[in-house]
Amino acid sequence: MTASADFAIETHNLRKAFGPQVAVRDLSFVVPRGEIFGFLGPNGAGKSTSIKMLLGLVRPTSGSATVLGAPLGDVEVRRRIGFLPEDFRFYEWLTATELVRFHGRLAGMSAGRLRTRVPEVIDMVGLASHRDRKLRGFSKGMLQRIGLAQAIVHEPELVFLDEPTSGLDPMGRRMVRDILRAERDRGATVFLNSHLLSEIEVTCDRVAFIKDGAIATVRELGAGWQDEVRVAVRADGVTDAAVSGLSRWTTWARLDGPELRFGASSEQVLPEVVRHLVGAGADIFQVTLDRMSLEDVFVQLVGEDRGL
Ligand SMILES: Nc1ncnc2c1ncn2[C@@H]1O[C@H](COP(=O)(O)OP(=O)(O)O)[C@@H](O)[C@H]1O
Ligand SMILES: [Mg+2]
Repeated sequence: MTASADFAIETHNLRKAFGPQVAVRDLSFVVPRGEIFGFLGPNGAGKSTSIKMLLGLVRPTSGSATVLGAPLGDVEVRRRIGFLPEDFRFYEWLTATELVRFHGRLAGMSAGRLRTRVPEVIDMVGLASHRDRKLRGFSKGMLQRIGLAQAIVHEPELVFLDEPTSGLDPMGRRMVRDILRAERDRGATVFLNSHLLSEIEVTCDRVAFIKDGAIATVRELGAGWQDEVRVAVRADGVTDAAVSGLSRWTTWARLDGPELRFGASSEQVLPEVVRHLVGAGADIFQVTLDRMSLEDVFVQLVGEDRGL
């Protein structure tokens, strides 16, 4: 097997400039098959442009990529891909059923298969009672739902979703998460663009942080993915000397009134830290362990000045 067969997506120095405007500066990453891969970054980071390049809708200025083992723009591969665009709002004159059937047919599904599969996916996205309504009257949330249905109707090997939960209420967001997990569980790869930390954190197996058109870092999520534990200690009588002495065990430490805060690579250091503080004359009232959230990682990388 070649390397590209192991990966649903592989990119090498992808770049896209629109005139002087560089949308994607330099993108190199791989997406293993069978994962929900999060592409997380602030507005304008280059997420949508990246998806469009991977779909063959926008031609890269330079660089290369393979999607399902084929070069960008391969027509045969396109049928094995699903796509929910950002702000899905086409074909307002079609009913929900007609739209989903249309996409299924484009992907080469047989009439017989469409008869059972189309109502099935419309039901999955919670629109069974609206399936014969024209999309013109649909709310943004309903359009997102039907957009998701058309993206998965043909059971694609790879599904791209660009901000799939914008316009959805909490129930809708949960529905999207459950559907994406079901897609992964049947063996599909999911590529999820989002500027929402919480959405990525609960849904994805791996996340790439995009900053200024390039990958800042890629992290595995799931249990124990954080590199750092954060600890808050409520104590009296902690001296500056005692804080400086913590550097053997901590990556950083800061005294904030009655609260000492520090970061460490593992909670294994806690007994030593507590012994050290008590030995230095401190009275300890409380020790609180705080796992580093994705938001902390993101803010560290992107900087607090950049809004999401
Ligand atoms: N067709 C285009 N022409 C000019 N600039 C564009 C075009 N598409 C995107 N951009 C610019 O490229 C940057 C990245 O955009 P985009 O990929 O949409 O980011 P994201 O999806 O992360 O919000 C933005 O500064 C955007 O204004
Ligand atoms: Mg976008």
